[in-house]
Amino acid sequence: MFIQFILVPVCRILSRRTLAMDTPSIDIQNIRAKYNNSQEPYLLEEKLPTTDPFSLFDIWFRDVASQSDLTFEEINAVSLSTVGKDLRPSSRMVLLKAYTPTGFSFFTNYTSRKGNQLKENPNAAMLFYWPKVNRQVRVEGVVEKLPNEMAVAYWNSRPLASRIGSKSSLQSEVVPNRQFLESKKTELTELAAREGGDAITKPNSWGGFHLVPQYFEFWQGQSDRLHDRIVFEQDREAWLIKRLSP
Ligand SMILES: Cc1cc2nc3c(=O)[nH]c(=O)nc-3n(C[C@H](O)[C@H](O)[C@H](O)COP(=O)(O)O)c2cc1C
Repeated sequence: MFIQFILVPVCRILSRRTLAMDTPSIDIQNIRAKYNNSQEPYLLEEKLPTTDPFSLFDIWFRDVASQSDLTFEEINAVSLSTVGKDLRPSSRMVLLKAYTPTGFSFFTNYTSRKGNQLKENPNAAMLFYWPKVNRQVRVEGVVEKLPNEMAVAYWNSRPLASRIGSKSSLQSEVVPNRQFLESKKTELTELAAREGGDAITKPNSWGGFHLVPQYFEFWQGQSDRLHDRIVFEQDREAWLIKRLSP
């Protein structure tokens, strides 16, 4: 009793304290970046460049792309949140590989944790954050699988090393150690050397999803913290535009 309820918790607290004292502290409470929206100071509903959320996304994406070094900055990295039948949400980054007037596409493993959650519940949310322009975009909707031919075409366009990496991994499965993955990679690298890169074919479980949005929110940060939040909510064929309080 004494060990379980008194000694162990006290030791835990003490060890945390020691760690905190050893590491130089970062003053998180006082981190306050300045926002500088020199191009378009406010996002005003009466001055929107378009009333179509897909076009507004396109304008914002081009804006951030034009100000970024795309070799180093993954502006197409997006947080994807899913909720399976256990109702416990989970998020991870994926790379947006296309956006069209119907939605947002990415590639992954259908048997991964996210793949299984999307099978159980196709509702999903994406979150883009581009600190360089102080902008965030939230997208919520329902995913559909992309046709297999699109997945094959994209798979074949990827560098050999990426194809080998993806094929070496049963995404989200527990593996004994890194060596386990390295030996799969070696096997496939030898196969490609013997038979050519085309031998590294797309696994059946690898493919694309397309998120079809029903809701967008465009957020533009302001230094006075009165941020702009413009929502586009689908109402049958139309998009209703609303401003939310920040
Ligand atoms: C910047 C970045 C981009 C990523 N892009 C992808 C991607 O396009 N597809 C993918 O399956 N995983 C991608 N990942 C890995 C995922 O975040 C995640 O670890 C993996 O998909 C397994 O997630 P799950 O177990 O929830 O299914 C990326 C990770 C980062 C940090």
